[in-house]
Amino acid sequence: MSDVRIERHGSAEDATEALRADVREGLTAEPKWLPSKWFYDARGSELFERITGLPEYYPTRAEREVLTERAGAIARVTGAATLVELGSGSSEKTRALLDGLREHATLRQFVPLDVSASALSEAAETIARDYPRLQVHGVVGDFTANLDALPGHRPRLVAFLGGTIGNFLPAERAKFLRSTRDVLRAGEWLLLGTDLVKHPDTLVAAYDDASGVTGEFNRNVLHVLNARLGADFDPSGFDHVAHWDAESEWIEMRLRARAATTVRVPGADLEVSFAEGEHVRTEISAKFRRDGVRAELAEAGFAVRHLWTDAADRFAVSLCEAVP
Ligand code: SAH
Ligand code: AVI
Repeated sequence: MSDVRIERHGSAEDATEALRADVREGLTAEPKWLPSKWFYDARGSELFERITGLPEYYPTRAEREVLTERAGAIARVTGAATLVELGSGSSEKTRALLDGLREHATLRQFVPLDVSASALSEAAETIARDYPRLQVHGVVGDFTANLDALPGHRPRLVAFLGGTIGNFLPAERAKFLRSTRDVLRAGEWLLLGTDLVKHPDTLVAAYDDASGVTGEFNRNVLHVLNARLGADFDPSGFDHVAHWDAESEWIEMRLRARAATTVRVPGADLEVSFAEGEHVRTEISAKFRRDGVRAELAEAGFAVRHLWTDAADRFAVSLCEAVP
């Protein structure tokens, strides 16, 4: 029989209040922006899963290659009793890690945490079914707010995969790494996936695929605002843009208004005008260099014990020890 429990950190009303505050701030700013975490309702999570299978979107395949090859070493080095996964989504790739940890026989508990309730509950149920000796304790919550209450037998290994760390702005990233370090004791572990800087053509193609799935994913944030705040966006009135910012070394996803329009957002008590061609930034996806990864981790109180990449050097996975 499977052992699965799911808890929610913060109420649905708290989440709507957070969305309202973000929309008020982002859509009255110049230039306009929206936080990328609001992509992920049930449809957004499904679209992201489709992205992971696109021929142009290499990060998932590259990271899976590293995890499959290194799972045994990760298990041996960490001896983890709990695997905590932040922004776990479908936890599909995590199975490579769970397999390695299972062979090593130290792992007792898996704690996936995600804002997307649908993705979280599906992942928790299927992992519990497929790994019957594992206690699965899912948490629906925000990894920027709910880290202090993380459950788990020690030592814990916190996995933050997929390159999701790149979706923070640099200052938010430093804060996130520091708060992750703060919930761990010295000698516990962080496993961090970071996408690496590469030719802009490869990067732009990964975020502007020929079949248009990433465009749908990008526009999904407007569907979320319509559903949760009663907004009247016409998502088809916005074009998908993926721009490589060579100075900041990040991909910036934007939505560009095809024509001048005014949108009502009653749930945020807002009316927003867009000029023709105006952009809304919906996501940054930072790309990293090895030295930068090491430096940022050291700054946060982690020592990188291993930094592995896939054979084509596209994506890095760092195994980091929390140090005093
Ligand atoms: N780790 C998976 C999924 C990456 S997609 C992979 O590597 O394929 C990013 C995931 O992070 C989504 O499932 C999304 O719902 C979740 N997410 C985004 N912002 C979040 C936040 N602030 N708190 C918790 N989860 C978040
Ligand atoms: C979740 N995150 C790491 C993805 C990325 O690549 O930045 C989200 C994504 N955006 C467009 N495609 C995928």
